[in-house]
Amino acid sequence: MFAATQQVYRVTKPKGYQHVKVFTEELPKHLEKHEVLVKINAVTLNYRDIAVANGTYPAPTIDQVIPGSDAAGKIVKVGSQVKDFKVGDRVVNLFDPTNIYGPKMAVDSSHGSSIQGVLSQYKVFSDHEILKLPSDSHLTDAEAAALVCAGCTAWNCLFGSAERFIAGQTVLFLGTGGVSITGLILAKAAGAVTIITSSSDDKLKYVKEKYGVDHCVNYHTHPDWEKEVIKATNGEGVDFVVENGGSGTIAKSLASVKQGGTISLVGFLSQATEIPDITILTMVKGATIRGIQVGSKQLFEELLRFVHAKKLRMPIEFEYGFSEEQVHSAYKRLESQTLAGKIVINVD
Ligand SMILES: NC(=O)c1ccc[n+]([C@@H]2O[C@H](COP(=O)([O-])OP(=O)(O)OC[C@H]3O[C@@H](n4cnc5c(N)ncnc54)[C@H](OP(=O)(O)O)[C@@H]3O)[C@@H](O)[C@H]2O)c1
Repeated sequence: MFAATQQVYRVTKPKGYQHVKVFTEELPKHLEKHEVLVKINAVTLNYRDIAVANGTYPAPTIDQVIPGSDAAGKIVKVGSQVKDFKVGDRVVNLFDPTNIYGPKMAVDSSHGSSIQGVLSQYKVFSDHEILKLPSDSHLTDAEAAALVCAGCTAWNCLFGSAERFIAGQTVLFLGTGGVSITGLILAKAAGAVTIITSSSDDKLKYVKEKYGVDHCVNYHTHPDWEKEVIKATNGEGVDFVVENGGSGTIAKSLASVKQGGTISLVGFLSQATEIPDITILTMVKGATIRGIQVGSKQLFEELLRFVHAKKLRMPIEFEYGFSEEQVHSAYKRLESQTLAGKIVINVD
């Protein structure tokens, strides 16, 4: 049995994580035919959760939003017409329940910004917006949750377009955040030569030792880091760039990519000091630039199969509890950018 009330976090005002507060709220008494009630066990955080808390997220966000896009948990109740799930199944949610297959058509609909998120003890989902983990899954709840946003995004960068990654190709990751490290693990398992950039030699050393990245470039000590990337690839450039930096790094990413290579626009961590001439740079490289919005349900299913088949472990670096103090510590750690990987909040 479960309680009639639950604890739920809300962004009470978008002026910093200190305003992410816990509330006691009623659990729904009734499930619609195709709904399930999930006891959430783990929520992983992403850079966007800081942006939502700070009011800087560049997409619609509802007032008093429940933050968080990534949850893993167990089904505790199912609606009368739910066929594919049963009580006890371990599940993860989709980042965007409207993104099922193919090019995204719907307006933005993502948990923790334009629709209510997952930082709560329980959540009602429609049965189309969750995926089941295999009964013999090796993943912890934290690792499974980490796949929802960072994992699916990285998978989309490699396998989401016609220019799909082929074993032996080279992939460049900008920074050592959640998308990069999760992507690095996936890319290596798929047979990539990998290059990562960072502001910190300590982080690079850590990533080399722990994840076996092939080449490291410090973008502070090498402001012209694209030249180091070109050197590392014997003058050719990389096949894929996972572009987390945004307007401040795109010109250098275009300089780093090989003729005909692919750049996936993922992040907005940096600002350009002057606007680069993207049109000419893209044209002369014959490059493909793709905008990424995490990924579809179909891509997420592929990712879960791959991770299960390869028994991959996900990069959970710091674990926190569900009290307000612990949740604020988790946000503080995320904002400090002093980790190479993911942060999880374990939900009581
Ligand atoms: N479009 C999408 O679908 C999608 C999905 C997920 C994430 N995102 C976006 O992608 C970006 C990364 O997200 P995340 O969750 O992985 O972030 P994260 O875990 O918070 O990681 C941030 C890391 O990025 C690195 N970084 C900071 N400024 C940088 C810069 N100017 N150039 C290169 N690296 C820089 C830092 O690592 P170092 O100290 O090692 O440099 C920092 O630790 C964010 O902008 C996020 O909003 C977009």
